[in-house]
Amino acid sequence: MPLLWFLRDRLAFTGTKFGCGKGLCGACTVHVNGQATRSCVMPVGALAGRSITTIEGLSENADHPLQKAWLEVGVPQCGYCQAGQIMNAASLLATNPAPNEQDIDNAMQGNICRCGTYQRIKKAINIAADELAKEVS
Ligand code: FES
Ligand code: FES
Repeated sequence: MPLLWFLRDRLAFTGTKFGCGKGLCGACTVHVNGQATRSCVMPVGALAGRSITTIEGLSENADHPLQKAWLEVGVPQCGYCQAGQIMNAASLLATNPAPNEQDIDNAMQGNICRCGTYQRIKKAINIAADELAKEVS
């Protein structure tokens, strides 16, 4: 059973979405031990002892800097891809808190948005990175 099925059908964590089912769109992105992972192609049986984080668990009160920036910018259109976008961006900022434009493009290029919200996604990631820099200083 893929992790995505387990999350949605067994645990009722429906924030993580099914898009392509083939590891190609990023809608199903969660963190496995902190790393962005496509849950639609990850067998749940291979994950014993690993830590899984979904969009539901990214922050206590939807107050991760990325979630706040997403609201500030008004990123989503239909919203379907957005949990995956945020989880992928969170993984980027965890390893690279001050990404440049190219870093963002490279990290986010596998997350597809049919509504074309890419410019707003990029803007929100930059705002969140600025916020993280303020928290550190
Ligand atoms: S649904 Fe998993 S990558 Fe598209
Ligand atoms: S907001 Fe609609 S697919 Fe991305």
